[in-house]
Amino acid sequence: MASATSASGRAEEAQNDRRARESTSPARRAHRPTLRGSCLVVAVALLTVCDNGPTAPSPAEIAAGKTTFRFDTYGDETFWTDTLRMHEVIESAVDPTTALTVGLKVDTDSLPPAVVQGIQNGTIDLHSPATTVALLKLNAVVGLKGTVSSANGKDTLMSVGVTCALCHSTVDNSFAPGIGKRLDGWPNRDLNVGAIIALSPALDAGQKAVYNSWGKGRYDPRYNFDGQNGPQVIPPAYGLNGIHKITVTGDGPDVAYWNRYVGVTQMHGHGSFTDTRLTPTVNVNNPPDQISSKLAALQAYQLSLQAPTPPAGTFDPAAAARGREVFTGAGQCATCHTGPLFTDANVRLHAPAEVVSEPEPAGVPSYASRSATKMYRTAPLAGVWQHPPYFHNGISPTLEAVVELYDARRGLHLTAQQKADLVEYLKSL
Ligand code: HEC
Ligand code: HEC
Repeated sequence: MASATSASGRAEEAQNDRRARESTSPARRAHRPTLRGSCLVVAVALLTVCDNGPTAPSPAEIAAGKTTFRFDTYGDETFWTDTLRMHEVIESAVDPTTALTVGLKVDTDSLPPAVVQGIQNGTIDLHSPATTVALLKLNAVVGLKGTVSSANGKDTLMSVGVTCALCHSTVDNSFAPGIGKRLDGWPNRDLNVGAIIALSPALDAGQKAVYNSWGKGRYDPRYNFDGQNGPQVIPPAYGLNGIHKITVTGDGPDVAYWNRYVGVTQMHGHGSFTDTRLTPTVNVNNPPDQISSKLAALQAYQLSLQAPTPPAGTFDPAAAARGREVFTGAGQCATCHTGPLFTDANVRLHAPAEVVSEPEPAGVPSYASRSATKMYRTAPLAGVWQHPPYFHNGISPTLEAVVELYDARRGLHLTAQQKADLVEYLKSL
């Protein structure tokens, strides 16, 4: 009886951890402490004043950032269309069934009722590339932006570009697998970006082999500069408010740093990016600038995206409460996964030797060595249930595997019970 009571007390503590994070309103969360340093020392009453201050993003700014995140290509059609000729590939060979197979998602909110009905009753042909073009015309393929011209009853795909949502949004599958409502910030772990890029007729066999080697849910954002092949698991773009080291190696002080990097150097949008800390130095200038003016709103939108809470019934609260003790005690997890965001990122980064996910799988170069910091950031853990596989290189397929890896590599000697409880706790975050 006594132990049952304390277990439920601890379960409540675990829930309180969540509530403590959630009690911070989106507007408040979107504040950057660095921008309101003087507010930090004032009493609670004054925080209200700060909340109305000039640094809080307005709903209009967040809404503008959402549109940018979902639909803006920053003019990257000059790469995806003019260079890679992806519009030709899509129009000739990518029917919706194929598109769904490589992990592309369809947004039902963009579909008129007649189209929804046609898909349901089979009168719309999901084995015809023309249907893909029709979906692009409706702006319904998540992360792909097509320009379609219609003449004599025939649609022609004139150009195609990609948006942030390609990799960092998925759908809830409420209509069918791969078809449903958008979930912004959720990484698309079904997306085989490499296989999609490899369809381009503009690449040589060596490049195609590299792209085809990446697999689902992975992308190497350094390959086009250093020629090394070590794809990264596409990370969530949610739950980042309050973290001032962005990317797994903590390369930038804010989300905007990476947004500029990826927008200019990976999506090949128009703008400029320079970082002399990288080897080789990255210095790209692709005028006219179509990115800089959008970065503030884009960042505000991302910081408004909270980590998703675990669905009801997906973890055992009593075991999770015991697991919390393992996390802070015998597992030593809380020495790095500190505070409400479960990371010490704002204070320090960690050398590869301290991190259980290195060395990389055979033949893959250290990802840290290819970054600006040469270090790793302790991963924030809110919503971790949502995005297997784990670690930058995805070496652990499940949370069970994560715990086994830590136990072995850090010599923790946890009991089977402790490991199981720790897994339940991770599932509850
Ligand atoms: C082709 C896939 C792809 C596209 C498109 C893409 N990203 Fe990413 N993104 C990645 C990968 C892979 C990483 C991991 C890089 C790393 O950590 O070193 C990443 C990292 C991030 C991070 C860091 C997350 C963290 O935990 O610190 C944010 C934020 C982000 N992307 C936002 C965006 C935004 C905004 C855009 C559009 C401007 C965008 N991404 C476009 C693949 C993509
Ligand atoms: C020495 C600091 C340190 C300790 C101690 C530590 N971690 Fe980590 N953790 C990290 C770092 C750094 C990463 C990111 C590594 C990477 O991406 O490859 C990470 C990543 C993770 C991830 C993957 C998250 C993701 O998004 O893929 C999980 C889960 C995790 N840790 C759980 C734990 C648990 C459970 C413990 C205790 C048994 C623990 N960590 C102990 C530093 C630490």
